[in-house]
Amino acid sequence: MKDKVTAIIKKYDNDKSQLVSILQDVQAEYNYLPRAALDKLSKKMDIPQSQVYSLATFFRAFSLKERGKHIVNVCLGTACHVRGGELILESLERQLDIQRGNTTKDNNFTLETVNCMGCCATGPVVKINDEYFGHMTNDKVEPMIKKYSK
Ligand code: FES
Repeated sequence: MKDKVTAIIKKYDNDKSQLVSILQDVQAEYNYLPRAALDKLSKKMDIPQSQVYSLATFFRAFSLKERGKHIVNVCLGTACHVRGGELILESLERQLDIQRGNTTKDNNFTLETVNCMGCCATGPVVKINDEYFGHMTNDKVEPMIKKYSK
């Protein structure tokens, strides 16, 4: 962890004004923001811990909770909701045997919800990592999950 965080800080030339980008890179590396990494950032960049943590908790995109290898996002925005987004979410909760906001025991999936991904016409939409699955139906849930199962 030490070397990865140090490399990210170096990439931004230790520039404190780039803290959000640095946090994004750290999260991209670990899928969440490990406490040890935040403490390292604070020390190395000479930024008070309180400032690092307040930024890390301000943006919904950041997570301080350990997340799985694959992040499953179910859209519950209005357009997706009226087309059955909630049913897709329930189907995913059953398939993965977890509730929204949680991670499977094998650490392979974290199930989260969002309010609009900007592709409402293809709703209901699910996104796994960077891949979008539009016009979702219950039948499509299992094969979609299988694709990302180990
Ligand atoms: S409401 Fe789901 S993509 Fe916009």
